[in-house]
Amino acid sequence: VGIPFAVGASGATSTGQQLVSRARLPRPFTQRLVVPPTLTPVLTGDVDRYEIVARTARARILPGLTTTIFGYNGIFPGPLIRSRSNHPIEVVYRNRLPVPIVTHLHGGHTPHDSDGYPTDYVYPEDMTYLRQHQEMSHETPMPAGDTTNGTRTYRYPLRQRAAMLWYHDHRMDFTGPSVWFGLAGAHIVNDDEEDALGLPDGAREIPLVLTDRAFNDDGSLLYPAVDRTLTTTPGVTGGFVAGVLGDVMLVNGVPWPVADVERASYRIRMLNACNARRLRLRLDPPPTDGIVQIGTEGGLLDAPLTYDAFELAPAQRLDAVVDFSRFAPGTEVTLYNDFGDGGMKNVMRFRVNSTSGPRYTVPSALSSVERLDPASATVTRRFRFQRGTVDHRSGWIIGNSPFSPSEVSASPRLGDVEIWELFADFHHPVHIHLDPFQVISRGINGPGAFDAGWKDTIDLVPGEQARIAVRFRDHVGRFVFHCHNLEHEDMAMMANFVTHA
Ligand code: C2O
Ligand code: CU
Repeated sequence: VGIPFAVGASGATSTGQQLVSRARLPRPFTQRLVVPPTLTPVLTGDVDRYEIVARTARARILPGLTTTIFGYNGIFPGPLIRSRSNHPIEVVYRNRLPVPIVTHLHGGHTPHDSDGYPTDYVYPEDMTYLRQHQEMSHETPMPAGDTTNGTRTYRYPLRQRAAMLWYHDHRMDFTGPSVWFGLAGAHIVNDDEEDALGLPDGAREIPLVLTDRAFNDDGSLLYPAVDRTLTTTPGVTGGFVAGVLGDVMLVNGVPWPVADVERASYRIRMLNACNARRLRLRLDPPPTDGIVQIGTEGGLLDAPLTYDAFELAPAQRLDAVVDFSRFAPGTEVTLYNDFGDGGMKNVMRFRVNSTSGPRYTVPSALSSVERLDPASATVTRRFRFQRGTVDHRSGWIIGNSPFSPSEVSASPRLGDVEIWELFADFHHPVHIHLDPFQVISRGINGPGAFDAGWKDTIDLVPGEQARIAVRFRDHVGRFVFHCHNLEHEDMAMMANFVTHA
């Protein structure tokens, strides 16, 4: 078993790829859903400390085949981290992978030196593979010697509301392949306000990490070389424009799983961790009360919202209460993706068993969400997310230039409310680091149906101009904002902002 080649915008590697035959894929809704194990801190106190080793591992994803992954602690998705608001933690990452890593806590209100800036590499402990393949972006100096200490400690103050965040690789030019091979995991922050609501918890709180993937015939993950073979690789239907789309839907790393649920209310927290696939999620048959949204990327809404279907662009999260109590025992409630075709319509299934559990009545007031007042904005900035030329090839850019670590596109003053006008030529899920924002408008309309509350990623649609209000609270330094279609990101659709007091 070879090491999966990581490929990216600046140095493509293509292996002989043959798509796994349909016959080797499990039938939908036959594999059991698992929930990622919760990581135990190695040290608790004023600061809790966690340790994660990034390494290759052999995973069982498709029946009868093994898949070499890049895994945090050797698993995909990585272990679940549970933390509390205002209780700082540190996470020590050790890099036993053959390639550099950079870890970003997505949705974290994090000082810049722990935010996982794309070129803040944690080099492999063992540099052999990297030296042989020189697989780096041109911005990168290589360390001397065959070994490095291969470790970095990230510090997270977590002065922020309860929410489901996620951590994932953020390496310059290689985020797409690194995440595709497995470097992603969920991180749930809790707080007292949320505890007071008495939401379903324990086995009745289910985090779902949704990722599409494609596989080679030997079970290995298939990731095409972005700049040359993306449009012609079988099984990868996206092409250059859409990014990399797989043909197998994994939920918590399991293909099209099934989960037993009681006749009770559940809190279901979904993360679209796909590289590039947008999802429109619907339950069939629908629960009487619909999908009740209680929160978003930035935590609880002020009041619940009810949906038949909910759209999630890459990196977006949905926090919802679903009531299975009114289904007859044995009912199969299927989670579908209306944006998918063929097998990609299926996501997972809940099988309602005969045990009755508590029903949860969602309160009409969940939280109080401060509104950023657009009228108080000190500046309006405009950014165009569009196709452009990157290193003499077709790529994706913000404004007129491809991402460069040395170029500053905005210098917001801490505490100020700003308006950012975002224009997109295609679907671009735009994510801003450091602090969340609020959607003010889309075109001539108000916020869209899925835009409520504090967001950290907005789903921009082709030809539309959206306006958001953003305020950076504290932490001085350089941060990025970018398209979270990971192939667009790797093809340079990223820019810097530098905050100042
Ligand atoms: Cu989820 Cu800058 O990333
Ligand atoms: Cu994009």
